[in-house]
Amino acid sequence: MENGETAERDVVNASVASHCLLCVFSGVFVPIVLGSLPPALPWHVSCPMRCVCQIKPWFSPDSVYHEAPTVDCSDLLLTKLPLPIPPNTHTLRLQRNLMSVLDTALLHGLHNLTDLDLSQNRFSSVRTITQSYTLSSLLSLHLEENHLSHLPEASFSSLPALQELFLSHNNIHSIAPGAFGGLDSLLRLHINNNRLNTVDPRWFRSLPRLEVLMLGGNPVESLPERGFVALKSLRSLVLGGMGLRGVAEKALEGLEGLESLSFYDNLLSKVPSQALRRVPGLKFLDLNKNHIKLVDTGDFQNMAHLKELGLNNMEELVSIEKSGLENLPELTKLEITNNPRLSYIHPQAFVQLSRLESLMLNSNSLSTLHQNIMLSLPSLQEVSLHSNPLRCDCLFHWAAKDKSHPYIDKVMGKDVQTARLVRFIQPQATLCSEPPELRARRVREVSTGEMSASCLPSIPVSSLPSYVGVQEGGKLVLHCRALADPQPELYWVTPSGLKLGPSQSQSSKSSSAPALCKNVTTSEASRHTSFSSVHVQHAKNHTSCHSLKNYQLLPEGTLEISKITPRDAGLYTCVAENVLGADTRSVTVGVHSRGKYRKKGVATKQKKFQAIRIDARLELQEVGEHYAILSWQSRHNLPSTRLSWQALYPNTHAPTYTTHILAGTQSFNLTHLQGETFYRVCLHLGISQGAKHINRRSRDSRKPQCISFRTKDDQEFQPTLQLNPQMTSTAVTLLLLALILLLAAQGWDTEPREGEVKHHNTLQYDIKGPQTVIINQKTKINYNNQPNQSEKLVLHQIC
Ligand SMILES: *[C@@H]1O[C@H](CO)[C@@H](O)[C@H](O)[C@H]1NC(C)=O
Ligand SMILES: *[C@@H]1O[C@H](CO)[C@@H](O)[C@H](O)[C@H]1NC(C)=O
Ligand SMILES: *[C@@H]1O[C@H](CO)[C@@H](O)[C@H](O)[C@H]1NC(C)=O
Repeated sequence: MENGETAERDVVNASVASHCLLCVFSGVFVPIVLGSLPPALPWHVSCPMRCVCQIKPWFSPDSVYHEAPTVDCSDLLLTKLPLPIPPNTHTLRLQRNLMSVLDTALLHGLHNLTDLDLSQNRFSSVRTITQSYTLSSLLSLHLEENHLSHLPEASFSSLPALQELFLSHNNIHSIAPGAFGGLDSLLRLHINNNRLNTVDPRWFRSLPRLEVLMLGGNPVESLPERGFVALKSLRSLVLGGMGLRGVAEKALEGLEGLESLSFYDNLLSKVPSQALRRVPGLKFLDLNKNHIKLVDTGDFQNMAHLKELGLNNMEELVSIEKSGLENLPELTKLEITNNPRLSYIHPQAFVQLSRLESLMLNSNSLSTLHQNIMLSLPSLQEVSLHSNPLRCDCLFHWAAKDKSHPYIDKVMGKDVQTARLVRFIQPQATLCSEPPELRARRVREVSTGEMSASCLPSIPVSSLPSYVGVQEGGKLVLHCRALADPQPELYWVTPSGLKLGPSQSQSSKSSSAPALCKNVTTSEASRHTSFSSVHVQHAKNHTSCHSLKNYQLLPEGTLEISKITPRDAGLYTCVAENVLGADTRSVTVGVHSRGKYRKKGVATKQKKFQAIRIDARLELQEVGEHYAILSWQSRHNLPSTRLSWQALYPNTHAPTYTTHILAGTQSFNLTHLQGETFYRVCLHLGISQGAKHINRRSRDSRKPQCISFRTKDDQEFQPTLQLNPQMTSTAVTLLLLALILLLAAQGWDTEPREGEVKHHNTLQYDIKGPQTVIINQKTKINYNNQPNQSEKLVLHQIC
């Protein structure tokens, strides 16, 4: 029987799905110790044929134990009530039969009948069960997995003592406003997994004592405002698996006694923080398996009684922001696990969680757990970090085997670091993924000496997709996060090469100006540090910064683009930078046109994007004795641009150096140059190697832009190659002349023309483009251009 089989499977599935809820909710309501139940006793009575009559343990809805005379007639293919039912029957089990009607007259005489189980039968109407005779002792009625589709007015009025009503897994799609009229004593109502698509506040008016309401598994997309206001006694509300996309601010209003709430498996894209403020008594909250992208500042705030919080199994969760959880004085257990994209927890994400003991963070994409998080949790006893791509060289000192785990204690109003021991859950499985020399080592076995004091920024692969499609007119939010020590600065570069972010930091050696906003000079920009001021500053120049009005850069590195137009399509690059270096990650944004030619629209846009002409003219801005400032302008985001340079000596080979140019940078100060020396510098423009939407040909056809110049000596003032008349040394002059002649003969030019390019190949010490690309370990890019600091460098020598 296939039907029976699928039903069986559904039950199994349902119990698996609700298992994680039960572990949260069982503590509150069902203190039954499974496995230690007393055995059934024989009950000598004249039992209906094929049924089993025994005295069995039974717990009332308020968990009081009873020895219950039980008649078990389940699985007998019965279509009607078997007779005779013994008069003092307490529990009557008729589940998994073929009954569609029930003659309640035959049950009317059973004065002790307390529990009636009619689940998995063929009832299609409740009237056939409840219409005629009152069953005044019945406390529990099971009608799960029948064929009920409608509950009429006063459906259960003949059951005045009923405390538990189970109606889950039927086909109920409509419930009359007064369907539950007369159930004044009802404590528990399960109408989950039906076909309800609205919740009617009137249903609950007659249930003043209801404590548990299971409404999940109904296709309700939104909850009414003040829908549960009549349920003054409700303690547990399960709204799992409903397709909820949001929770109205007043949806939970009036649930003053609510202690546990589950939104398991819905489509929530944000933490419903406004709605949660209306349930101040909440102790257990389950938000697992939703589409929440970000736990934002203030999302969980001032929840005075919250004890346990679950934020597991969220495909889209990328970040826990600063003060995402704040002032939760009772929180003892926090579970944030199995979120494949969660790569960032802000160092100050957890504020005033003074009682947090257990922090579960396993099976995410976290590279590290910042020491400040450990410092901020004075009661932490255990942490679970296994199954994360942990970078043991970065911010992990607190975890080293020779370190005790500190926390900040307030002693007489002063912060004091105190040591304590935090237990790792599954320490054998908590392994380093990076750096290569520590790979597969257990985190707990790495010593402080093996960890470095600082680390390069790294933007996790999982945090940004390589392609995002958006509908025209829509809004796009791109979250870029990176942890490093020192804390990195983040900025974005738009397809038009515009740099959005905090201005140049003092420590940065390369100067840069936004591509299209020429009026913003480096020195001007450096006076501003906040995101918003840069934003305003860019916006001043309307002619060149045309589309700035719809960009917004939020702190922590989120780029919001509103009212998307096809012009916003293209390559966006996020750059995270600290004094050690930088990491970049690019995402291609496609804009889908509105209307019926949608598919076509995408294709043309894509093509356009591929066909962009990428060029930029390299110019020498300033030259000194030991440095030269080069600049270029491009109207594109070229995240894999490189600059190479080489000293030109008449007789010797000089090494060629290459540095990666960070996206959005439009000028570069080459330092540590030799004085009075000719240099040849080339700019190799490039869109990210990772960008799949650029065709090969357009990438390969780009030629480097090269210029040559001579560094000054002490007396020189002109940054040109003209011979200085003040030069008196004939030897020097002759040498220079010889060199110029040599270079001229070999096609030396500040701007190579098509016909001349081939000559470069004959020049012995020319730069052979791709061979000079040296990028440190996959995604890390060091851009420091001082050849001396070799360990930090990406410089390389060819020939
Ligand atoms: C009902 O149960 C009570 C005690 O549980 C018992 O005293 C009484 O005899 C029972 N009634 C019937 C009709 O069996
Ligand atoms: C370029 O670098 C040189 C040498 O470090 C320095 O003296 C000069 O001020 C720098 N110029 C700019 C504009 O940063
Ligand atoms: C190179 O760096 C070392 C130490 O980092 C320093 O002692 C040395 O003077 C530097 N050399 C030059 C040429 O700057």
